[in-house]
Amino acid sequence: MSVFRTVRGMRDFLPQEAAILRSVEEKARRVAELYGYGEIVTPIVESYELLAAKAGEEVKSRMFVFKDLGGRDVALRPEFTASVARLVATTLRNQPRPFRLFSVGSVYRYDEPQKGRHREIRQSNYELMGSEAPIADAEIVLLTNSLMQACGLRNCVFKVGHVGVLRGIFDEENLEDKVQDAIMQLMDKKQYDDAFTMLENSGVSAKCIKILKELVKLKGQEIFDVVKKMQSLVEGYGKAAEASKNLFQILRIIYESACDLDISVDAGFARGLEYYTGMIFEVNVPDLDIALGGGGRYDKLIKLFGGESTPAVGVAHGLDRIILAMQEQKVLPDAKLEKSVAVIPVDEKLNGEALKIAQLLRDAGVRVEVEVVGRKMAKALEDANRRAMDFAVIVGERELKEGAVVLRDLKKRAQQTVKVNAIAGVVRN
Ligand code: HAM
Repeated sequence: MSVFRTVRGMRDFLPQEAAILRSVEEKARRVAELYGYGEIVTPIVESYELLAAKAGEEVKSRMFVFKDLGGRDVALRPEFTASVARLVATTLRNQPRPFRLFSVGSVYRYDEPQKGRHREIRQSNYELMGSEAPIADAEIVLLTNSLMQACGLRNCVFKVGHVGVLRGIFDEENLEDKVQDAIMQLMDKKQYDDAFTMLENSGVSAKCIKILKELVKLKGQEIFDVVKKMQSLVEGYGKAAEASKNLFQILRIIYESACDLDISVDAGFARGLEYYTGMIFEVNVPDLDIALGGGGRYDKLIKLFGGESTPAVGVAHGLDRIILAMQEQKVLPDAKLEKSVAVIPVDEKLNGEALKIAQLLRDAGVRVEVEVVGRKMAKALEDANRRAMDFAVIVGERELKEGAVVLRDLKKRAQQTVKVNAIAGVVRN
């Protein structure tokens, strides 16, 4: 038999790592609660057609796709947004807007494994549906900042752009959607030369190419100056001008909220997912050269899935990367929280008594591990010490006759005889 390892790109989480993951998930869940996002749980397996509809070539080509035994084309979700949009287009169709919906769990992409890049990815995902107002875009950005703060991360930088500016120009140049999508994919990968070659071959005006070359260079942290330059560059392209005005409004609301975010506007910023129609953003920390989260506005997806026309904006955070950033910045929480007790019977005749005492302690909220290997007392104590447990309860016949046990403080190396019903109190104090 071969030695089995995890499939490439997939990882095991041992107890300490799992505890960290769960604690970050808890923070994401708490942010959802504080912002009024209700949790939904959607399937990991969805129809390929749904997931592929607007994922974009890059994500589409990296999906885990297969036929189920009924011959249906299905895939492991590469993200949550398509599933949430499906739900809003169907089951939630007639519910009053806006919706605030939250999910947390695994998504799957056949990316090339490397630091911070895996094939099973844990995301926390937030979607705000039913508002086209800039305050909704601002909320999604601020919510992301709240999660970064809750995780103790410092020096977060938000990179912000607007798909409507680029698409607005392309639309007025009558560029087919398919070509627009291909150019946006190239821009997302920063392959600007290829993007310009494709544009030149598609017959757009020289003015359009000139403006795009300027836009790609236009970025910086003087955000209102950058957006004003953007506005003057795209003058004459009605939709693009509207889009840059919209970006200005979103940034102004964020600025006026006094949340003090570090923002950099990037006029040539594009994202791989194809459904975006408006503001897009990513959040980074300087310690890592990868995005900890990203999102944006997508106003047409729900209608595309057969629902009521519903403007929407959302974000997903990569929890694996957030943990990595917390490691780099040394702000990971201490995983061990509760006091732990080893219950060790002196003799196997007392196994039942040991379990009874263990249950009593657990009922009082104390973490207990019972000696199940039948080791001699010295060995069992040595093991409890090695695993950094706090106390040992030694269950012996003599003390039991008095309704008591020996309680050994493994840290202080001291012991005392304690009545059974008093152990929990002593351990906690
Ligand atoms: P995304 O930018 O594709 O957006 O993914 C969001 C985050 O997931 C990334 O910023 C990154 O932290 C993490 N991530 C993605 N791929 C990997 C990987 N291979 N390994 C580790 N982490 C990864 C979305 O998924 C959109 N659904 C966001 C959204 C919601 N837009 C609107 N609503």
